[in-house]
Amino acid sequence: MPSRSRPARLVVLVSGSGTNLQALLDACADEAYGARVVAVGADRSDIEGLRRADRAGVPTFVKRVGDYANRDDWDRVLTRSVAAFEPDIVVLAGFMKLVGPAFMAEFGGRTVNTHPALSPSFPGMSGPADALAYGVKVSGCTLFVVDEGVDTGPIVAQTAVPVLDDDDVDSLHERIKVAERAMLTENVGRMAREGFTITDRKVRFNR
Ligand code: GAR
Repeated sequence: MPSRSRPARLVVLVSGSGTNLQALLDACADEAYGARVVAVGADRSDIEGLRRADRAGVPTFVKRVGDYANRDDWDRVLTRSVAAFEPDIVVLAGFMKLVGPAFMAEFGGRTVNTHPALSPSFPGMSGPADALAYGVKVSGCTLFVVDEGVDTGPIVAQTAVPVLDDDDVDSLHERIKVAERAMLTENVGRMAREGFTITDRKVRFNR
């Protein structure tokens, strides 16, 4: 993806509290950041992530899997909804669904996801719980370019976070999320401003 002279258009997809979305909204308030959130989508209604978008004056849409005959129909509708906002980069920020073939055909190579574990360890929906159960001493977060797998795409950035003896899932996840928000905003900003290339799974910024 090349660098550009105008701010990059971000569409952010969320499923929950949207603290990562908020970090992006806050970063985009600075013109020098080089990106703006043009829409926020969700797979469920009545979530704080959508309320954060409303408060920021950003348009929202909701596409629930259960409202469609099958997963592929949902994927096509989600893809069209995102495409209507002409994003340069799509950010999955706590979006708890796997996107499908239609989405990948349209946005593959320019969709990033943030995961609360150090890939390739502990993919899936419960990274912090799985890391804790395994007994690792270090976990963290991973920003990656989405591919067809579950948290398997080329890695943009990772940040390590210590696991403490008295951690429970919530305390570990909250510590990871502090690091995650910084990792997300720093690297999405660089992707927007500098552009990036992916060669043999290696993601490199263009300057
Ligand atoms: C984040 O920790 C994100 O990495 C995780 O959900 C949280 C969302 O927090 N996503 C996944 O586990 C996806 N596999 P937020 O709604 O406050 O941004």
